[in-house]
Amino acid sequence: MFEQLQEQPADKILALMQAFREDPREDKIDLGVGVYKDANGNTPIMRAIKDAEKRLWEEETTKAYTGLAGDPLFAERMSRLVLADAVEADAVSAVATPGGTGAVRQAFDMVRLANPEVRVHVSDPTWPNHLSILKHMGIPAIPYRYFDSETGGVDYEGMIADLSQARSGDVILLHGCCHNPTGANLTQGQWHQLIEIIKSTGATPMIDLAYQGFGDGLDEDAGPTREVAAACPETLIAASCSKNFGIYRERTGILMAVSNDTSKKKVTQGTLAYLNRQNYSFPPDHGARLVLMVLGDEGLRADWMSELEDVRTGMLELRRLLTDELRERSGSDRFGFLAQHRGMFSRLGVGPDKVEALREKHGIYMVGDSRMNIAGLNRDTVPKLAEAIIDVGI
Ligand code: LMR
Repeated sequence: MFEQLQEQPADKILALMQAFREDPREDKIDLGVGVYKDANGNTPIMRAIKDAEKRLWEEETTKAYTGLAGDPLFAERMSRLVLADAVEADAVSAVATPGGTGAVRQAFDMVRLANPEVRVHVSDPTWPNHLSILKHMGIPAIPYRYFDSETGGVDYEGMIADLSQARSGDVILLHGCCHNPTGANLTQGQWHQLIEIIKSTGATPMIDLAYQGFGDGLDEDAGPTREVAAACPETLIAASCSKNFGIYRERTGILMAVSNDTSKKKVTQGTLAYLNRQNYSFPPDHGARLVLMVLGDEGLRADWMSELEDVRTGMLELRRLLTDELRERSGSDRFGFLAQHRGMFSRLGVGPDKVEALREKHGIYMVGDSRMNIAGLNRDTVPKLAEAIIDVGI
């Protein structure tokens, strides 16, 4: 039977990780996979997480199963972190999932259950795994215009024109903040208008929130998600704890289904738990427990927020340095958009030939669509990147 299997396309981001590892050059620079790195190139365990792990080791008395939805305290505290008091607690059904990707997958499963004909509108471009999962599940993905490579910003007119075509029964997938892969985000005013468009189409918004705290701050980054959830009758939110708690390999995420019809909560919550049972039964607990401990303890929470703020401002500083270097070397402001972008990523907006030249000639690895992970830089490598960008004729 196995001979019937066909080779699957390699995930571009993961393939790049491998190619980087195999490159013997000592001065190579990894701007590929979306993992935060400090100035020494390490991905540290956050202090509050380490402290929580110590406490957990002391205090945990059992590894017996939790519930199918995970620990309700995790859901309660994460819902609060993401939604604050934008909606009533009763409006939110939630399950813990293996990472943000698990939440995305469960959300697609849920909407397909509700509407077997569902179509999902995705930004062009979007995180490649969104497309890959949709394809695997046989759900049509409809691209909407998003990135304007001329300006490095959002093609807002195009986006609105395309999303106006959505219809009831469709899902509109949005990045809550720190758009991956472009780094280009909507302004507050644009979000307000977009929400009106979504409401007028009757489509259901789904927000992928993988980088809360990496853009303008924890509350600022959750602002659009809160507004969408408060304004629309139903909203799906897939939130990841991988990046903002730095617990990538623990696979910690949450899927929230928000509905202003609270009478349906039992069915919605039951459906989410049912889907967990079908796909992997109980969700992983270790990371979720660390998160609920950090969020529930004043000291740990304050330390976590302060470390996250350092991470965020460090990336902003790298953006500023890179933009300054490029302004100096190019004698123009054409790279100014890099300082406007938010989060880990920026898309340069150049073709694969230039990306390849950066890799071949300079040992600089970025994703083929010219997405670079700003956190892969430090004060020493910023000038090297700027020089290489000019050298390959970008
Ligand atoms: C990324 O976009 O690089 C991250 O979300 C990691 C991944 O799984 O692709």
